[in-house]
Amino acid sequence: MLFSEYKLKGVTAKNRIVFPPVVCMNFTENNRVTEKNVEHYRNVAKGGAGLIITEAICVEPTARLHPTQIAAWDDESIEGLSKIAKAVHDEGLGIIAQIHHGGIQSVPGPKKVPSDITATLYGKPVDGIGMTKEEIKKVEQQFVDTAIRCKKAGMDGVELHGAHTYLLSYFLSDNTNKRTDEYGGSVENRARLPLDIMKRIRKECGDDFIIGIRYGGAMTSLEDGIAAAKMFEAAGCDYLHVSYGASPREQVPVPEEYSEWNSMVYTAIMIKKEVNIPVIAVNNIDTAERAHKLVDSGMVDFVALARPILADYEWPNKVKAGIEPNPCFHCKPACRWFMGALVNCPARKAAAKKQA
Ligand SMILES: Cc1cc2nc3c(=O)[nH]c(=O)nc-3n(C[C@H](O)[C@H](O)[C@H](O)COP(=O)(O)O)c2cc1C
Ligand code: SF4
Repeated sequence: MLFSEYKLKGVTAKNRIVFPPVVCMNFTENNRVTEKNVEHYRNVAKGGAGLIITEAICVEPTARLHPTQIAAWDDESIEGLSKIAKAVHDEGLGIIAQIHHGGIQSVPGPKKVPSDITATLYGKPVDGIGMTKEEIKKVEQQFVDTAIRCKKAGMDGVELHGAHTYLLSYFLSDNTNKRTDEYGGSVENRARLPLDIMKRIRKECGDDFIIGIRYGGAMTSLEDGIAAAKMFEAAGCDYLHVSYGASPREQVPVPEEYSEWNSMVYTAIMIKKEVNIPVIAVNNIDTAERAHKLVDSGMVDFVALARPILADYEWPNKVKAGIEPNPCFHCKPACRWFMGALVNCPARKAAAKKQA
């Protein structure tokens, strides 16, 4: 099954391996796409993945996750994004753009969040400022406008970034959303902003446009995550990409029979049982055996591999051919691609040395 096709709207993924969003810090110039970005996606596409989701591209200049993040906040962005879309399409793959607002992690800020909060980020306290309803509506519009730009750029769809402590994840979690109006409290209220964004994108971009969401499937609890999954499906969402949400600690315990998987993958497996739209699992699915097991058994529809494909663009082609890919070293404290370039990746260096 891992190497079987899957049709998602107008896109046929030739296999179930997704290259998930990976920001390439410092590849851009003035937040615009450069040939480095295009080349990176072209190489991922050549490596044999079935579907590519771009790195987080930003809906608002003050809400970037990093100063060099790719802009999607104005029409000038369309040209660069279209170069990425074309390079990937030329290799026969579909491409979805992940659209993002930094929330508590916004640079330069202000750090807008659903309700006032002091969060600890990288060991330091950070003050988030609660949003007015007008500000929420403005962000809704920015996501919709960004999706329209992505469509104009030739992207096959968009993925709302509702994970990893960024703005939408803060709405989804009741640890970080203390609002008492229609955007806080019940799961439906906490999911209201992404749901409204999805419905409006569907109206503006049409039925063929793919809409997905990456979110913490255990948004405070697995029950809440499943309830939200059903709401996303009912709102016309085409797939769910299950990671962690407002806090990496916001994870559910994994029962014994699933102990080979971490909380994020376990959550994806549980959500898959409850919805009819495809589910992508991600995080530490780092061997061919694990990828096969998840997809071949039908536990999830797709597996996303970030670091394995960063370590070796050819991971899917090699696994299909029965060749061992270059191993990822699981660098600590974090993947060196965060620091800006493939040249720092020890897996790449080791492979180059071997070849020399
Ligand atoms: C360098 C780097 C950049 C990342 N950038 C993003 C991003 O832009 N958006 C996102 O949702 N996740 C991002 N992630 C998380 C990955 O998509 C993925 O969820 C994570 O690496 C776990 O998967 P893996 O074990 O296959 O690497 C990033 C991860 C890395 C290593
Ligand atoms: S930098 Fe380290 S963690 Fe990241 S892909 Fe390379 S080997 Fe893996």
